Order: sequence, then structure tokens, then C-alpha cells
Amino acid sequence: MTKSISLFNHKGGVSKTTTTFNLGWVLANHNRKVLIVDLDPQCNLTGLVLGYGAVENEKMESFYSSRENLTMKPIVEAAIKGAEPDIFIKSENGKLFPTENPDLFLLPGHLNTSDLDSQISVSLKIASGVPATKNVPGMLPEILHKISKREDIDYIIYDLSPNVGGLNEIMVMSSDYFIIPTSPDYFCLQAIGSLEKNIRKWHKDVIRFIEDNDFSVANFPIHNSPKFLGAIQQRYRPRKEKPAKSFQKWIDIIRESINDSLVPSLEEIDCVIDGKKMDLALKNTDLKPYDLAHIPDFNSLIAISQQVSKPVFSLTDSEIAEVGKVFGHAEETMQVSRDNFNRVFTDLGERVLSLTS
Ligand SMILES: Nc1ncnc2c1ncn2[C@@H]1O[C@H](COP(=O)(O)OP(=O)(O)OP(=O)(O)O)[C@@H](O)[C@H]1O
Ligand SMILES: [Mg+2]
Repeated sequence: MTKSISLFNHKGGVSKTTTTFNLGWVLANHNRKVLIVDLDPQCNLTGLVLGYGAVENEKMESFYSSRENLTMKPIVEAAIKGAEPDIFIKSENGKLFPTENPDLFLLPGHLNTSDLDSQISVSLKIASGVPATKNVPGMLPEILHKISKREDIDYIIYDLSPNVGGLNEIMVMSSDYFIIPTSPDYFCLQAIGSLEKNIRKWHKDVIRFIEDNDFSVANFPIHNSPKFLGAIQQRYRPRKEKPAKSFQKWIDIIRESINDSLVPSLEEIDCVIDGKKMDLALKNTDLKPYDLAHIPDFNSLIAISQQVSKPVFSLTDSEIAEVGKVFGHAEETMQVSRDNFNRVFTDLGERVLSLTS
């Protein structure tokens, strides 16, 4: 059965998109069939996989209209129109878009996702029983579920935009799991506090929506108990393979806030992974509960990675040399760095597999 994971933080620029791609890639390396879904109208994930600049290109219009590959465009149109989700069981809607990794596929995003976002927000607010709108919030999770089933997907990962609109609400609350990408600074600490309030509010909203509309809880596609797997601390400056002191301070403060405030609050609404599973997943690591990984700044590897549409940890020696146009000491340093990232991400993949098993 497909397992769904949302990467969510309403704070912008904390590596949600980059981590969706990287996590999808490592899970695929662990022999899982993975679909990453671009649910952000900014379409950064789509740009990352198709090549930067591609999304603005005229070619994109024919890409969407040819329907050779399945994209968010017809899915959003169907969800807004209230079409029958079963139409996506058939493969006429296009193949899954391949990436450089044979087991990783992309569902490319589209600007019209923002129309669906407003529709869902309105539908969730309307008190009850309006047939034209009451089915809108459950449509997208149901369609994505049907596609995953049709394609035998093991993991579906949602890249969400940095906001707290209706689309993010239903995608997080319908997921099996969610991860909070964050970075060690004051703004991210602030975001943890508001995330707690927000997820509790979403949980309450969904209960009310189900009751108001007399949906059957068991069959409603928004299950309302996504399990928090932990945070990924990213983009700090390392010193001797550890975060530099000023970054370590924020990593510790954010972890404390997650453990002392976010986790107990989410436990009350059954939205946290089992503590024993967490202990097992972190055994033999120096990570503490709810820290899923510590990922330093990619530095110049990120530029090469974006040019070849591959994660930093899977760049080949020749890509580093030729695309990076480096040689000698710089080349060696980058190869060592790539190998270190490879270890960090392989471990992250194993941890996520263990937590979601
Ligand atoms: N570990 C890292 N080291 C260096 N740069 C990084 C790292 N992770 C992400 N970046 C860069 O930081 C920027 C923001 O990352 P990304 O777009 O993944 O964040 P996001 O949370 O998805 O942003 P948004 O909120 O706009 O959707 C990008 O330019 C990305 O290449
Ligand atoms: Mg993003």
C-alpha cells in the first residue's frame, strides 16, 4: 500500500522542495517506487526535475497540452469540476514523468493549483451540505490515491507551498506522515510555535467538516491523523563536521521547542509517530528524538546538482569535474563532500523507512 508523506513548513525557503527531491531519490535507491508531487503553484520541484528555466519556457505549454505525461493540470481541473476520481484509474491520462532515477517519478505542478487552493478554502468554510462544494476538499487526496494504486507506488511525497491555505490543509491532514524541514534560525523557531496552533486548528476543522456534511469517517479520504516523523535541520555552516556554534545553538533551541511543545500538543490529537519507533530509528546515531537529519550547506555542489537535475549526493566524479568546471584540490574537496552527503541522505532514507514500516 502506498505511504504518503507531506513536507510542510509555512516558513518559506527552508528546503521543502529540495528535500522532497532528495528524499524521494534515496527512497528510490532503497528499491521503492516513489512519486514526488509538485503541489506548489511556484512549480520549483518541476523546474528542478525538468531543468531550470523550463517552466517559463513556451515548450511547457505543449508539455501540458500534449498530455503524454500526467501533470497536475488535468487533476486540478477534475477536482474543481467535481469529476469522478475514477477517471484517473485509466492510463489514458498520461504516463508518470520519469526522472534521472529509474524508480523516481514526478507529477509536475501547474499554476492552476492556486485556483484549487482557493476553492478548497471556501468549501471548508461553508457550513454544510452544499452539494456543489462539499466534495471538493476530498477530491485531490482521492485522485492521488487512485493514481498511486494504479502505478504501484510505494511512497508518494508532497512538496507543499509555504502557506496555510486549504490545499495544504487537506494534503497534510490526508497524509500518513509529515516531516518539517527547518533551518537553524530565529524565524524557524517562531514557525514551530505557529505550526502547532495551525495543525491543531486543521484537525478541528476537518472533524467539523466531516460532521457537518455527514461523511463517513472511515471512507473520507482525509484521515485527519498524519503522524509527525520529525524535523530536518538544514543549511548550517559546519565546523569539524559539526554545526558551527551559533547554528548548534538554534538547532538545540528548535529541537527543545519541538520536544517540549509541538510533540505533546500533537500527541493529544494522535498526530505523532510512536515514541518507540522513534527510539529504534535513532539507535546508533547521535541524533535526538524528532531530529531526522542534520544537513549542512551544500555549497557549490548545489549549482552542479541543479544543472544536471540530480541530488548533490548522487553527482558523479565527471559531473563534478565537467559541469562544476573544477579540478585539483577543489575537485577532491567536492567529491569528499558529495560522499559525506551520500552517507547523510542514505541514513535519512533508512530512518524514514524504519519509521514508516
Ligand atoms: N542544504 C542546502 N544547502 C544549500 N542550499 C540549499 C540547501 N537546501 C536548499 N537549498 C537552496 O535553498 C533555496 C531554498 O530551497 P527550497 O526551494 O528547497 O526551499 P522551499 O522550502 O521549498 O522554498 P519555498 O518555501 O519557496 O517553497 C534553494 O535555492 C535551494 O537550492
Ligand atoms: Mg518549495
